[in-house]
Amino acid sequence: MNVILIGFMGSGKTSVGRRLAQRLGYRFVDTDHFIEGEIGCTIAEIFSIQGEDYFRTLETRLAMRLKALQNTVIATGGGMIVQPGNQEHIRQAGLIVFLNAEREDIIQRLQRDTRRPKLKGGTLEETVDRLMAERLPVYRQSDIIIPTGGKSINRVCGEVLKEIGKHAKPVESPAASG
Ligand code: S3P
Repeated sequence: MNVILIGFMGSGKTSVGRRLAQRLGYRFVDTDHFIEGEIGCTIAEIFSIQGEDYFRTLETRLAMRLKALQNTVIATGGGMIVQPGNQEHIRQAGLIVFLNAEREDIIQRLQRDTRRPKLKGGTLEETVDRLMAERLPVYRQSDIIIPTGGKSINRVCGEVLKEIGKHAKPVESPAASG
């Protein structure tokens, strides 16, 4: 089984994902880091040299490959699941967990960000509000939704693990299978 973390930029997908993978004994993959490694440049460079559409194509190609992974926690870029078609690919890869961070926490965490191209231009508040309004309806279609406001990484992990346990398929006992 794979666990796929989705949510807005700055919602803690990478930090929570790493810890979750440790606790589950799973591998950890961050889709942004994976793309950067394959292409050999940063997300910001891909956006500025080849453009956002090219980055989204790379993301979709990766989304299509995720179902080949096993026992992996996957932290996705905030825009990956909202691209047309990607939700279906991601759903086939495993359990989708939305880390639902508070607007104020997101704004505070992204305040000094210089790496994320989607935050360039306009005020941070306007950008966050616009993108959140577009994306929340898709994020909300997840299997599991964890509100993260005021919680430590460990606490969020604990809540994700508890919810995953409820979704896990029961192991068939020998008696039941006979
Ligand atoms: C993006 C989020 C980023 C990265 C890219 C675009 C987005 O990932 O994929 O800058 O459109 O929300 P994080 O959510 O990990 O910041």
